[in-house]
Amino acid sequence: LVAFFQPKALLGKRVLVTAGPTFEAIDPVRGITNLSSGKMGFAIARAAREAGAEVTLVAGPVDLPTPRGVARIDVRSAQQMHDAVLPRAVRHDVFVATAAVADWRPATLSEHKIKKDGKKLAPSFELTENPDILAAVAALPERPYCVGFAAESENLLAHARAKLQRKRVPLIVGNLGPATFGRDDNALLLVDEQGQRELPEGGSTADKLSLARQLVREIAARIAAGSA
Ligand code: CTP
Ligand code: CA
Repeated sequence: LVAFFQPKALLGKRVLVTAGPTFEAIDPVRGITNLSSGKMGFAIARAAREAGAEVTLVAGPVDLPTPRGVARIDVRSAQQMHDAVLPRAVRHDVFVATAAVADWRPATLSEHKIKKDGKKLAPSFELTENPDILAAVAALPERPYCVGFAAESENLLAHARAKLQRKRVPLIVGNLGPATFGRDDNALLLVDEQGQRELPEGGSTADKLSLARQLVREIAARIAAGSA
């Protein structure tokens, strides 16, 4: 009802969101993943839809309901997420990368379950780096307005600022994980070239949906102002 009375800040805009963890298979029954719940990304997809946008949500393995009116694409690995996002990115006005993409995957996938019988030593795995989806989208000639996330356990501001530059995106949203992973409340730090700002203001926390709505308003204001 609240959303009903708000001006549709993203009417006519197309928003692409990644959310959740990725899962990198080791063998048919095992893999590497992380504790991202996907809640923040799903909340942003919902808030963007409420704001009038056409929303595509590319989700890693999470057990969350699809927000109403949102087109959802389920993927498992970072490579699959990359392959779902890249061809679609140019057709969108905004890209919000909330996914906790696994940085590495096992270099080889074992066709069969790795068995312990007979082995004297525990197996070791060689890892290879996954593609950086956000950096790849930000490097497109006709790129959407790109928003990155940075979940850090320390030095939030410094790490967020480094990511802003390394990934060449106009806005990084920092949060202090893993303390907030899976929780319903969070606090965000918006970091851009000009400076930084807390959401909510004043060092408190808010539920992820109200944070998502505030962030969507912020993004709408930035694209209306024509910043890139
Ligand atoms: N990201 C991505 N693809 C990757 C890794 C990260 O799209 N392979 C995106 C995330 O969705 C997030 C932002 O990049 O929006 C920052 O992710 P993060 O893991 O914090 O940064 P990394 O560059 O991977 O650095 P590190 O994990 O070492 O802090
Ligand atoms: Ca990472």
